[in-house]
Amino acid sequence: MTTPVPLLHVEDLVVTYPTPGGATTAVDRVTFTIPRGSALALVGESGSGKSTIAHAVVRLLKPTAGRIVFDGTDLATLPERRLRPLRPRFQMIFQDPYGSLDPHLTAQEIVAEPLRLSGPLAGTRDRTARTRRAAELLDRVGLPASARDRRPSEFSGGQRQRIGIARALASSPDLLVCDEATSALDVSVQARVLELLRELQAETGITYLVIAHNLGLVREISTDVVVLRSGRVVEQGPTADVLASPTEPYTRDLRRAALDPAAIRGRKPRELLHARGRAHTPA
Ligand SMILES: Nc1ncnc2c1ncn2[C@@H]1O[C@H](COP(=O)(O)OP(=O)(O)OP(=O)(O)O)[C@@H](O)[C@H]1O
Ligand SMILES: [Mg+2]
Repeated sequence: MTTPVPLLHVEDLVVTYPTPGGATTAVDRVTFTIPRGSALALVGESGSGKSTIAHAVVRLLKPTAGRIVFDGTDLATLPERRLRPLRPRFQMIFQDPYGSLDPHLTAQEIVAEPLRLSGPLAGTRDRTARTRRAAELLDRVGLPASARDRRPSEFSGGQRQRIGIARALASSPDLLVCDEATSALDVSVQARVLELLRELQAETGITYLVIAHNLGLVREISTDVVVLRSGRVVEQGPTADVLASPTEPYTRDLRRAALDPAAIRGRKPRELLHARGRAHTPA
């Protein structure tokens, strides 16, 4: 039996940013693999390089060195011309949906836009079919029919994120990268968004690269976890093993911080850990 090709294999990824005082290495020889249909979580303290890795994977930035092998193709050095046809297959959703949704478009138009550019409805004049599909996607992420004609400013943060998810799903991606970078969303809303992602994975077999600060949610959604510190991997493996018995003191500290509300300013880790146990109301 041959081993199936993983959907994503990141090898020796290096990203340096130019800074006034010289180059800063944000990501330093990071290697991980995400099999198809699974979910890998990146965890680590602020500034450890999580978003930088996410941005490199979807080629919002060009890595300094290393390989990003997506379904057999190395994206790391691919010119934009050759990346473009692949882009619909790897999508990213941002925790802060303010900047990423066009304020002039309605929710339905935002979701219909990628359908115009890729997938079975791309390039056709069948606007009705695209509108119908956009409505289906908004419905799937739990937004009411009355939401379709509203603009981003008329939604709550959680609802805006749902629009972002519907838009990302419009091109039927194989990989969805979710950066839970900011604490813009209420913790229980975050929990419900991750719950939605889990349901979608069960339905479609989509693969995730997830950044989440809440280790309780990381445990719920991810198969494997990569623990980062100062741009380097300090520990990685199956989530259940790494979080249950971390071998690195740093991971133990992260776990302790997640349990100690005083340790993380501005977040409510205890609530985060228990959010999934509560009754779910629409975000
Ligand atoms: N555009 C940039 N220019 C220069 N340095 C940057 C830039 N973006 C990030 N950095 C630096 O790179 C390092 C990694 O940042 P990154 O945003 O990837 O961390 P993170 O793990 O996502 O943090 P957080 O949990 O706060 O979102 C940090 O030292 C950061 O200051
Ligand atoms: Mg970040």
